[in-house]
Amino acid sequence: MLSLLKEIKVLEDAYQLPTYAKIPLSIERGSDCHVYDVEGNAYLDLYGGHAVISTGHCHPRVVQAIREQAERLIFYSNAVYNGARAQALQLLLKMAAPPFVQAFFANSGSEANENAIKLARALTRRREIISLIHSFHGRTYGSLSSTGIAKYSSYLNTPVPAHRVLPASEAAAAISTDTAAVMIEPIQSLGGMREIPLDTLREISSAARRSSALLIFDEVQTGISRTGTFLYSQQPDIRSSGVQPDITTLAKGIASGLPASALLVTGEVARQVKSGDLGATFGGGPLACAAIRATLQVIEEEKLGENAAATGRYLREKLRSVPMVREVLGRGLLIGMRLDRKAKEVQEHLLSRRIIVGTSDDAEVLRLMPPLTLRREAADLLIDAMSHL
Ligand SMILES: Cc1ncc(COP(=O)(O)O)c(C=O)c1O
Repeated sequence: MLSLLKEIKVLEDAYQLPTYAKIPLSIERGSDCHVYDVEGNAYLDLYGGHAVISTGHCHPRVVQAIREQAERLIFYSNAVYNGARAQALQLLLKMAAPPFVQAFFANSGSEANENAIKLARALTRRREIISLIHSFHGRTYGSLSSTGIAKYSSYLNTPVPAHRVLPASEAAAAISTDTAAVMIEPIQSLGGMREIPLDTLREISSAARRSSALLIFDEVQTGISRTGTFLYSQQPDIRSSGVQPDITTLAKGIASGLPASALLVTGEVARQVKSGDLGATFGGGPLACAAIRATLQVIEEEKLGENAAATGRYLREKLRSVPMVREVLGRGLLIGMRLDRKAKEVQEHLLSRRIIVGTSDDAEVLRLMPPLTLRREAADLLIDAMSHL
């Protein structure tokens, strides 16, 4: 008799076009930092389904908000007003804080980035978009043309014109009065958890200001409290450096797993956006907004940003004493480890100990993007498993 996993695998592999190289698991249930496979085995989830599970799997308040909203109204578009949307926007902008004053809801990180690029080109009436090598911005046409990881971007035989992908150290000098925007993933997670040095960020930001080009932060992974503050641009060193994006994109953890994303803009940008410039049938739908609002409430009330900072600090400290770890990268609960061996090999070992972690585009960098509810006791399980390899 086929195992349940095999039965599911046969069907998915037969009917789904190939996507990611899959971890050999069929996850059927989740609760906080654990997921359960089809046989009922528990796994510690330090991957969060690609950094999505901000409030933990199936947080009761998020589940309740989704259930109540689904019973009332699943969907109506932005063509009408809706209370769930109004409340999600109010809380999002309170947490994002000025100078961000308005937001646009979309459905995925790629879509948010696509709209950021479109808006920058339209508002500046310029064409050029500069982005950085090792960044990942998504799989749609503009976002992929901005992506600096060859494995993905080489798929495009004809990238969108006027996209330039440059080494971080060359970006500032390349900005000119033809540049509409510079798009930056401040911690290049998939690229190997490479953080853009603060001096480089400052130079890019000053050059952009001098040329009246916009600065876009892709905070699809760093946002929603993953680095300890709600936004990466709110980290004390970034804030005090004067680097302030004009547009920031958010997705992943914004709705605890329902597909949703947001584009945040400063007052200066908001003033130039006209009705009709932006739109999306599903963006800002009531169900997604109920999930966004509940997610943000949980993050705020349960102080998950503070927990991400504290547990991240603890984990980072412990990881430094694990012999196979050469370097610990990232901030908060966005963690990379440069290992003395292949990350894939360690990922497989950890899976055999029922711990899920991620790899990256750098073969020696292992990534952790766990729920922001992760506690020290769970972090200790990882340290123990890694110390026995
Ligand atoms: C930094 C970053 N930007 C954009 C995206 C694209 O998001 P989505 O897959 O929701 O389109 C991702 C996805 O992994 C990402 O990590």
